[in-house]
Amino acid sequence: VDNFSPSALYQIDKSYLENAEEGPFFKGELPRRSPPSQSEWHDFLGFRVASRLGVAAGPLLNARWIALAAQLGFDLLCYKTIRSRAHPSHPLPNIVFLESDGQFSQDELPTSITSCAHPLPPERLAITNSFGNPSRSPHYLRRDIPLAQNVLYPGQALIVSVFGTPGNDPKDFLEDFAKTACFAKECGAKIIEANFSCPNVSQHEGSLYCNPEAVYTFALRIVQAIGDTPLIIKMGAFPHLGCMKECLLAAARAGARAIAGINTVSMNIINPQGEPALGDDRKTSGVCGAPIRKIALDFVQEARDIINREKLSLTLCGGGGITLPEHFDLFFEAGADFAFTAAGMMWDPYLALNYHLRESYARTAHL
Ligand SMILES: Cc1cc2nc3c(=O)[nH]c(=O)nc-3n(C[C@H](O)[C@H](O)[C@H](O)COP(=O)(O)O)c2cc1C
Repeated sequence: VDNFSPSALYQIDKSYLENAEEGPFFKGELPRRSPPSQSEWHDFLGFRVASRLGVAAGPLLNARWIALAAQLGFDLLCYKTIRSRAHPSHPLPNIVFLESDGQFSQDELPTSITSCAHPLPPERLAITNSFGNPSRSPHYLRRDIPLAQNVLYPGQALIVSVFGTPGNDPKDFLEDFAKTACFAKECGAKIIEANFSCPNVSQHEGSLYCNPEAVYTFALRIVQAIGDTPLIIKMGAFPHLGCMKECLLAAARAGARAIAGINTVSMNIINPQGEPALGDDRKTSGVCGAPIRKIALDFVQEARDIINREKLSLTLCGGGGITLPEHFDLFFEAGADFAFTAAGMMWDPYLALNYHLRESYARTAHL
């Protein structure tokens, strides 16, 4: 496996825009999938979907990327986070491969993690990504989001992820979040996700999810703006259970329909010489892939307990560290209603098809 293997979707030495314009770089075959009968489909926020597997916000840069992921058997497809106006990506490097052994736990994160030149095999795949929530222009998105909606097969659903841009007035951030969500809806989005947890922007912008008042205020404002279009709140790992409970209660009270987590885990990234791998101005960045799976599974288990105990009507979307087909089941067993992968599918695009293959063998064996 290396970055240029026929199956890698993203080329890390190219810019975000080059990847968007020239990618996805997939050269593998597209085996035919035998989908389950409609009676076995699932309800996802009012939409019938053929499976509970999705791609989280990030890897799918535009309608062409959505089209490929839809063919690759992912049934919940999240359009990379957009803003109300064009916003540049951080310069290269945007993605760096990481050395990883085992799983992190939230209370004992290592002080740093070291980069490496090539991706590790899927069971240990780890990367950091640092884009800074870039966005295409409204003009581009008005054309591309409807295209993305049109490339779906029956039994698939598109989610559009949105983010607010702060301005001079403290209220600007809130209003811009609502404006972007409205814009996504105008472009045809039927499900909207609000990114309350990006670790690659300022602390204030990136940690809304663990402030219950902010979760309530922002989620309520967005719900008021988009009406009956379902809202998902994207969260990160919580510092403690009490905080998670308050934030989930706030999300439900504000009218959000689902929560999704976890986002990447912010850490110091160094190169083998011990220097900041992304440069001096980006010493920390979000880690994703295999090493965050335990943190993500803990998030799902704890969120499931809170949702059940408090009887919250929140759908639970789990993900973080899904790099092998069997990892989806770990999330379902932990209590996720739906399971999403990001880094895993970029270096193994067959992740969902291999999961479906196992499921259809199991179905046939039971006939
Ligand atoms: C290349 C890349 C870009 C990402 N961009 C976004 C983004 O725009 N918005 C967002 O909410 N999360 C973003 N994420 C975070 C993922 O949605 C996900 O929460 C995180 O990567 C953990 O899942 P994983 O371990 O399966 O990658 C991105 C992840 C990757 C790998």
